[in-house]
Amino acid sequence: MTRALQEGSRGESNIAVGLDIAGKHTSTATSTWTGARLLSHTECLEAALEEQQQIVKKHGDNIDYDTLLEMSFLHCCIKETLRMHPPGPIFLSKVHKNFTVRTREGYEYEILEGHTIASPLVINHNIPYIYKDLDVYDPHRFGPGRAEDRVGGMLTYNAFSGGRHACPGEAYAYMQVKVIWSHLLRNFELKLVSPFPETHWLKVTPEPRGKVEVSYKRRIDAT
Ligand code: HEM
Repeated sequence: MTRALQEGSRGESNIAVGLDIAGKHTSTATSTWTGARLLSHTECLEAALEEQQQIVKKHGDNIDYDTLLEMSFLHCCIKETLRMHPPGPIFLSKVHKNFTVRTREGYEYEILEGHTIASPLVINHNIPYIYKDLDVYDPHRFGPGRAEDRVGGMLTYNAFSGGRHACPGEAYAYMQVKVIWSHLLRNFELKLVSPFPETHWLKVTPEPRGKVEVSYKRRIDAT
């Protein structure tokens, strides 16, 4: 990868930079935001811990791929983190064919071939008729009986984009963040000691500005 960059090969450099951002910065920022959100919401933290305890009761310390898939509340916590802190806050797409968009109010807009569409997630994920109390960190909004991510159709929630160029790393990204947070939750008592971080909007993947400091104490009953 380094050699490709040194040789100045534009195509290879683009792939290297693309993979670095696509697979690394996105998951890193999401792990940090998930921790900051969870440790700031006692009710969510307790529910996430309760889920971990149930998993351990059922499977012991055998935390494998299938066990991670069972962590549905932790999944919703990560999903809600991504609603509020999408690593890709805007997508740009080139229009290949004319098409028409109809709004809820009945207005129609013709989108012409050759134009570029900007799709801002920071707006899409904060639409009040879709997301109830949208400023509140509420992982239950994706749970049974609510499914707010479906209210406006299949593309309501698009932290991983959609269609042909949707993120192929989605399942892997959830696994990565779950591996980190299920381990930390099971093994440590954690407290956020710094204030809840502001967003560093100037970063390619908006991450917390400054340090996110956490105190930790090993659990006696850790697995
Ligand atoms: C929380 C973690 C992640 C998020 C939120 C995320 C989000 C996204 C989004 C929104 C896109 C579409 C961008 C666009 O249309 O302009 C995308 C594309 C992509 N992602 Fe991810 N991603 C994550 C993790 C990963 C991981 C772990 C990998 C690989 C291991 C990965 C590989 C890719 C690739 C290769 C593309 C380009 C797909 C294409 O153009 O056909 N992503 N990602």
